[in-house]
Amino acid sequence: MNKKMTITSIQKAKGVQPLVMITAYDALFAKLLESSSDMILVGDSLNMTFGGKPDTLSATLEQMIYHTKAVCEGAKNSFIICDMPFGTYTSKDDALKNSIKVFQETKADSVKIEGGADKSEIVKHLTSNGIAVCGHIGLLPQAFRSEGGYKIKGKTKEQKQQLLTDAKTIEEAGAFCMVIEGVKPDVAREVALSVDIPVIGIGAGKDVDGQVLVFSDMLGLFEEFTPKFVKKYLDGASLIKDALQNYSDEVKSKEFPKEEHTY
Ligand code: KIV
Repeated sequence: MNKKMTITSIQKAKGVQPLVMITAYDALFAKLLESSSDMILVGDSLNMTFGGKPDTLSATLEQMIYHTKAVCEGAKNSFIICDMPFGTYTSKDDALKNSIKVFQETKADSVKIEGGADKSEIVKHLTSNGIAVCGHIGLLPQAFRSEGGYKIKGKTKEQKQQLLTDAKTIEEAGAFCMVIEGVKPDVAREVALSVDIPVIGIGAGKDVDGQVLVFSDMLGLFEEFTPKFVKKYLDGASLIKDALQNYSDEVKSKEFPKEEHTY
């Protein structure tokens, strides 16, 4: 059994060993991916993957708590991060109240909040009140509607400077690590080098301190669309559909169940 990562071991990995983060939303998958990941993220991407919605904006705190509880049951030996959904950390008080609820009702080790320098006061308030925070800078899925789409960051000098400022202020506010999403690889590299905490990339190239992928993307379960940054490690959808068709054919032909499947 793998040793559960801690904030100290996660931070010590920087510059030594790339960190592996994968999302999970239920106990079954959490258990399957536990041995191959250093951290499990209960991402609000579950609103799309699990809930079939077009974006993450309508995910609720109650949903995140429900799924985080399930993941904690399935992966008892993993460092688990619960994504704070849209609208649950707009003020320091709300952020703390809602994060305390996550910590009290689940066994999550940390919360994740989207935003850079603009969220540093909130991150500081959480970390100084006993809540471990993973930051999230660059492309912010929760800003999808306000920014008019998913916008890759780091394309201009100003954006690069903003990302460096975001990373520094989030680090100074006490975050133990951060996700950097949808950022030009050379800029993501500079950001990772500019801070002492691990910077975990998604669509940000290889020169960061680790990678995170949504499990259903990397297992090829989501067929509608594959973002450019995703590598499919399995053609999951085809494998599952073939197996289901096989079952359906065998039920119809009465080949299943056989004697060994019968009491
Ligand atoms: O919600 C999520 O799954 C995420 C990852 C894409 C980092 O935030």
